[in-house]
Amino acid sequence: MRRTVKEFRHAKGQRLVYLTAYDYPTARLAERAGVDTILVGDSLGMVVLGYSSTVPVSLEEMLHHTKAARRGAPDTFLVADLPYLSYATLDRALFAAERLLKEGGADAVKLEGGEEVAEIVFGLSRAGVPVLGHVGLTPQTASQLGGYKLQGRRPEEAERILKGAMALEEAGAYGVVLEMVPKGLAKEITERLSIHTVGIGAGSHTDAQILVFHDVVGLYGEFKPRFVKRYLEGERLFLEALSQYVQEVREGVFPSDEHSF
Ligand code: KIV
Repeated sequence: MRRTVKEFRHAKGQRLVYLTAYDYPTARLAERAGVDTILVGDSLGMVVLGYSSTVPVSLEEMLHHTKAARRGAPDTFLVADLPYLSYATLDRALFAAERLLKEGGADAVKLEGGEEVAEIVFGLSRAGVPVLGHVGLTPQTASQLGGYKLQGRRPEEAERILKGAMALEEAGAYGVVLEMVPKGLAKEITERLSIHTVGIGAGSHTDAQILVFHDVVGLYGEFKPRFVKRYLEGERLFLEALSQYVQEVREGVFPSDEHSF
């Protein structure tokens, strides 16, 4: 049964499991594994489309992948990322959210930023769009934060992130992602908010955890941030299987009679 926004609004302390998925097979696997929420993250720009950041990801690409993920996981709550600059104004944000919810089948949208996006979150929420916030390391503006690194180590940075999370709650967000912040800060934010927090590289005190599908199953090359736990060496296993297929065709082993009519 697909969970509801109302349930997530009262999900404090439930240790929810989020996972990204970007297409029919990955969403299908996520649903079968029993995750609480699938995020069609704009990280798809890197792990699926081969871009070097999330910045080039377009609304059309998000829509294409959201539709496919929805088909693979009809019974799981699904959040789609609003791509970079698609929420620069409330009109643009409403347009993008409308397409992702109506055409894509998403249940909610996620956007990045704290106090500076609170007005947009308020406008979306007032229009009836469920919004998940995202503070700490915000990949769409990573360059302005000095790259993909830990955020909130300095007191003034930590204060900005805390205030941002509080502004998102005030504006109507039903939850907030905390990415790459020290675990003490994540704990404090989690205790100060009445909405649930979703950690990635934020320690164990957040209400929920999220990881990127390709990181969990080892399908994104050698790159492995410290906060990722790889549960499978997917790339090695896929490569072994594919190399065997190549070899068997070349040697005339496949197809055998068993695979012929
Ligand atoms: O795009 C994404 O996958 C995300 C998660 C890492 C939170 O924003």
